[in-house]
Amino acid sequence: MSDVANLSRSEGTRTFSVLDFARRKKAGEPIVMVTAYDALFASLVEAAGVDSILVGDSVVSVLAGESTTLSATVDQMIYHGRLVRRGAKRALVVVDMPFLSYQVSPVEAVRNGGRILKETGAGAVKLEGGADMAPAVEALVKAGVPVMGHLGFTPQSVHQLGGHRVQGRGEGALQKLVRDARALQDAGAFAIVLELMPALIAQRVTANLSVPTIGIGAGPRCDGQVLVLHDMLGLNEGFNPGFLKRYAELGGEVRGAVSRYAKEVRAGEFPGPEHVRKM
Ligand code: KIV
Repeated sequence: MSDVANLSRSEGTRTFSVLDFARRKKAGEPIVMVTAYDALFASLVEAAGVDSILVGDSVVSVLAGESTTLSATVDQMIYHGRLVRRGAKRALVVVDMPFLSYQVSPVEAVRNGGRILKETGAGAVKLEGGADMAPAVEALVKAGVPVMGHLGFTPQSVHQLGGHRVQGRGEGALQKLVRDARALQDAGAFAIVLELMPALIAQRVTANLSVPTIGIGAGPRCDGQVLVLHDMLGLNEGFNPGFLKRYAELGGEVRGAVSRYAKEVRAGEFPGPEHVRKM
């Protein structure tokens, strides 16, 4: 049996688009999204049947060892976006707009978002924030750049939020989240990531929107889910939040394989006769 997980028949093997996001919400069919930062992993996750690939600015934490995402630059996101597009032909590739590439003004947002789309071949960008970012979203959409929003825990505001904290708790939080989500939807966002919030809050926000929500640490009632690939594969072993499910333990696999290699080289066992070319 194929390991491609249930590709929708009507979508077949054609490119997944922002219109498919809307159609999936209407049909009540979950949207599957995962991060990737390079062509190799992009081709693997696409072959596994994901609908959409997020080139997250988490790349600077996951691959470059930074403690926050704040240092990501437009050029870095373009580089990784291009690699992912090269590896994935069918999935909708969404590239994160990094900190300060869209907050300063809608004009800056269009300049940077336009560059990302033009230079990577991606199908959309993602940016963080609520009603305050609606003018930037509107300007991008008017310029032809599809935008995914991101609410709840927004990593680019980690200092303002006082750390990695669950959002949406307390009096008025639900109303504010719904207001922010509606502002993004009205500005033209085609989907909204909901990160780190109680499941009931995410469910209520989702029910108040016509565009799909994509949850991470936001419970099962969002219209889709996204996970950071390296976390779900167990490559980022120190990161173990309650919402994360590890589908593999590749960290241990990598250590085991490399230590077997080191042992065999030191023992003179590798390369063996079967790895040596005859003259
Ligand atoms: O940068 C990222 O990987 C993200 C996900 C956590 C949604 O924004």
